[in-house]
Amino acid sequence: MARWALVLALVGAWWAPAQLMEPPHCAAAGRCTAAGSSQSEYIYIVDGFTVNLEYTDSGYFKLKCTKGLTLDNSALPTFESQLRVNKVYFEDCPSPQSSYADVLERFNVVVLEKMTLTKIGNLTATHFAQLQHLHKLELLTAALAPGALAALSQLQYLLLDSVRTAPGELRRLPASLETLSLMRMGMDVTAADLAALPRLDYLVVRDPANVRVDASAAPRMLSLDLPAAVLARELSPSLRKLTVFGWGEAHPAPWLQCALESLDVRDALAEELPPGWLARCSALQSLRVDSAGRLARLEPGALRGAVALRELRVVSTALQYLPPGLLDDVPQLKLLDLSSNRLLELPGGLFAKTNALESLNLSSNQLTQSVLSSLSAVTSLVSLDLSNNNLKDSCGSKSDAVRESSPLQYLKLLRKLVLKNTNISMICRDWRENMPQLKTLDLTDNLFEYITFADMQFYGTADVSVDLQRNNVSVLEYTREDYKSAVNLDKPALRARLVLSSRLRCDCHVYWAARAFHERPAHAPLVPRCADGSPLGRAPAALECAGAPPGVRCAAPCACAWRPGERAVLRVRCEGAALRSARAALAAVHAPRGLAADWELYLANNSIERVLDLRNNSVSSLSARSARQLVRRGAWLAGNPLHCGCGAADALAVLRAGLRDAAAATCLGGAPLAGARPAPCAAWPAPALGAAAALATLLLGAALLAALWRQPGLRLRLKAALHRRGWLPAQPEPDDDARRFDVFVSFSHGDEHFVRSQLVARLESGPAPYRLCLHYRDWAPGGWIPAQIAASVRASRRTVAVVSEHFLRSSWARAEFQEAHALALREARPRLVVVLLEEPARLPLDDRLRRYLAANTYVRWGDPWFWEKLYLALPRGRGPAPAGGPAGPAAPLATTLASGAPPALDKSSDALDGDESTLVPLTPALA
Ligand SMILES: *[C@@H]1O[C@H](CO)[C@@H](O)[C@H](O)[C@H]1NC(C)=O
Ligand SMILES: *[C@@H]1O[C@H](CO)[C@@H](O)[C@H](O)[C@H]1NC(C)=O
Ligand SMILES: *[C@@H]1O[C@H](CO)[C@@H](O)[C@H](O)[C@H]1NC(C)=O
Ligand SMILES: *[C@@H]1O[C@H](CO)[C@@H](O)[C@H](O)[C@H]1NC(C)=O
Ligand SMILES: *[C@@H]1O[C@H](CO)[C@@H](O)[C@H](O)[C@H]1NC(C)=O
Ligand SMILES: *[C@@H]1O[C@H](CO)[C@@H](O)[C@H](O)[C@H]1NC(C)=O
Repeated sequence: MARWALVLALVGAWWAPAQLMEPPHCAAAGRCTAAGSSQSEYIYIVDGFTVNLEYTDSGYFKLKCTKGLTLDNSALPTFESQLRVNKVYFEDCPSPQSSYADVLERFNVVVLEKMTLTKIGNLTATHFAQLQHLHKLELLTAALAPGALAALSQLQYLLLDSVRTAPGELRRLPASLETLSLMRMGMDVTAADLAALPRLDYLVVRDPANVRVDASAAPRMLSLDLPAAVLARELSPSLRKLTVFGWGEAHPAPWLQCALESLDVRDALAEELPPGWLARCSALQSLRVDSAGRLARLEPGALRGAVALRELRVVSTALQYLPPGLLDDVPQLKLLDLSSNRLLELPGGLFAKTNALESLNLSSNQLTQSVLSSLSAVTSLVSLDLSNNNLKDSCGSKSDAVRESSPLQYLKLLRKLVLKNTNISMICRDWRENMPQLKTLDLTDNLFEYITFADMQFYGTADVSVDLQRNNVSVLEYTREDYKSAVNLDKPALRARLVLSSRLRCDCHVYWAARAFHERPAHAPLVPRCADGSPLGRAPAALECAGAPPGVRCAAPCACAWRPGERAVLRVRCEGAALRSARAALAAVHAPRGLAADWELYLANNSIERVLDLRNNSVSSLSARSARQLVRRGAWLAGNPLHCGCGAADALAVLRAGLRDAAAATCLGGAPLAGARPAPCAAWPAPALGAAAALATLLLGAALLAALWRQPGLRLRLKAALHRRGWLPAQPEPDDDARRFDVFVSFSHGDEHFVRSQLVARLESGPAPYRLCLHYRDWAPGGWIPAQIAASVRASRRTVAVVSEHFLRSSWARAEFQEAHALALREARPRLVVVLLEEPARLPLDDRLRRYLAANTYVRWGDPWFWEKLYLALPRGRGPAPAGGPAGPAAPLATTLASGAPPALDKSSDALDGDESTLVPLTPALA
């Protein structure tokens, strides 16, 4: 015994540290033994019968008997010290001979509140002696002798389940009862029964038999669960809350008396709800009709008289249509739940009078998009659920990039919008922009395939949760501009918390999104993942789409892949294709001439021995040494603007003798290499040294590549930035020396900062500064602008046009461009040098400019070799002007021209830009 007590104490301490009570012990040695325990459960064997005992201190005490054991058995274990609990349960223990109070005393247990007896047998008043203090009693499966409970004078709650009693027994229950539950009692509840229970507040009757309960005498709350309950036409004046499961009235007649505040009928057999059936229920605030499979019709006046109605739920019925004006009688309605019906549409004007409606649930009907228009007037809505209806997209079609607003755009107070399983595929604009309070947007189970950056921008004050689970979202679509915004905004750009359950298809389509998530993961509160589980932002550069971008054809044996980017990347994979030259690889790819892409050519595991095909590139000046290297490598050089001027004689001799395609190679200007015999020259123009160095680098790189190609098994990666234009070497231009300026800089006011801080600062300094013509400095105030333009162009050896969006919008700047272009054409000399401030693709170029750029020299600001290229394109600077210098020209330009044109505009920078109305017609030569 002691051993057991110790074990149990230890186990008890282990399992239930909060339990301070020692478990009961067996006093009758030999007849009672403890057989084990777990947590709060203890097992004893008493006279061979198993006894299950559970308890917690101050909580409950529960005893479960096995057949044959009685509570009178003197060998049952007892607690050493008194156990006080709120609840006591005796399960399957036949009623004892004495009172339950005696039984508990033998266990040394005091019950304070509630007793539950299950499968007891006969119960008499004796059994409840000395238990007057009990508040709650539950009897399940028993037989109750007349007046057995009468002495429980403080009983407030009584549950009788399958208890046999004599008729009229209800009238002998304690008058103190407040709550009475009668389950499976098979007995009617009459007005007389209820009259005997003056304090009764809540009556629950649940019975498989159709017993009758007199609702005209019901207490404040009545809950019935019967096969087909039929209620009195006059409801008790004290009845406020009525719940009926199994409402049996097919055509409910109007109640004559009704003080109800809440009516909840379920499993109703009603086929209609006739007009005026609630006419007397003017206090009714909440009505629910649920699971009424036969209810197919509501009459127009069905809610008449229920003027206080705040909440109306008509769910799971067969309703297809609602009568017009149904809600006109319930102007205070705040909540309307019409879910799980068969509604096909809503009648017009249904919500005309419901100005207070906040919550509307129309889920699981057969509504279509037209319902949205019916809802656009319900501007008081805070919560709207339209799930499980075939709504489809209401703000554009799937293929549209732009999302319009839906008819819900007027619901500006919405906090919750639930559109689960509605066959939609896009987030309408108004949901993001017009609903500042929106917190929950549930879009699960829809047809979303891609989400754009704009889709994630919600303009409200709250952080929105957008649930897109169980959609097949495979693309997160950012444009380059979206990427820039995502990376540049200083606060989190997007606050919508998107819940995506699908994985993205990580290819070139998500490149910009991947860049954004790579560079600034915090711009949006989500971590999108690729199909393989890796985060989208892991390696943007590796994203690619198989095949060729639009306009490019890629043929066997090479396979192409590409991705967008500041510069697109075209990867040409020709590994292990038994190719004998890189040329053969390139021949497999047909790309348009101007393709703005970086090429990556993969040639590992081929049979290439030697190759250096530099045809149609921009190689111009070569040293004799470089020329020898090229010749050794068997290079092709046709289609390059070779410099055949002074100083090139040695290099050209090497090329002529050894170049593979010497016969086809040409000088700048097109003369054949074969015939070029340049003279030695006095000095190499200083600025061109940079370009020479650049070319040397190019050649070294080429040599290295050629060396690498020879090594079998080594993966070659050739990145060829294709500068297809030739950059002119500085050549003497004796006839130009008479011109007053070296360079006329044509630009728009919008780019003045760039011109002053970069171009002017650089070109007017250094060992050979340029004589620049700048309109803000060198033009005569008040001169006729077209004349000044023409004069400036003619007085300068070159015109540098700084082309940007500003430039293209400025009519004067365009006029300058045309003038210089026209002059270049007339003189058949490259007079015009274009400096592009942005990628040509990003500029709104007209056809003329586009053609010009395709055919001529331009220099891109941002190019690492910008200055070298620019110097190459310009003649040598002649140093400061002899008289005055650039900052103080001798005479304003226009005065050097005889022009009879009227002085018109003040050529201030502002007047130059954008104002077409001030444009003076250009001379015929320019047009
Ligand atoms: C209960 O009482 C009825 C008659 O009042 C008797 O027939 C029955 O045997 C009793 N049952 C038990 C278990 O004592
Ligand atoms: C609308 O009703 C459906 C079915 O009755 C329920 O599941 C859903 O939660 C309700 N919607 C809202 C927003 O309460
Ligand atoms: C969505 O469209 C499909 C195909 O048209 C249809 O079968 C399905 O029932 C629609 N979903 C809903 C909720 O109506
Ligand atoms: C999801 O979309 C991808 C392509 O966008 C498609 O291949 C796939 O079959 C779709 N999956 C489902 C379950 O619809
Ligand atoms: C080249 O061939 C070797 C041997 O067959 C192979 O292991 C290697 O992966 C190949 N390399 C490429 C880039 O295909
Ligand atoms: C170089 O360009 C010329 C003119 O466009 C073309 O005819 C020639 O085939 C090109 N050479 C190569 C090797 O692509």
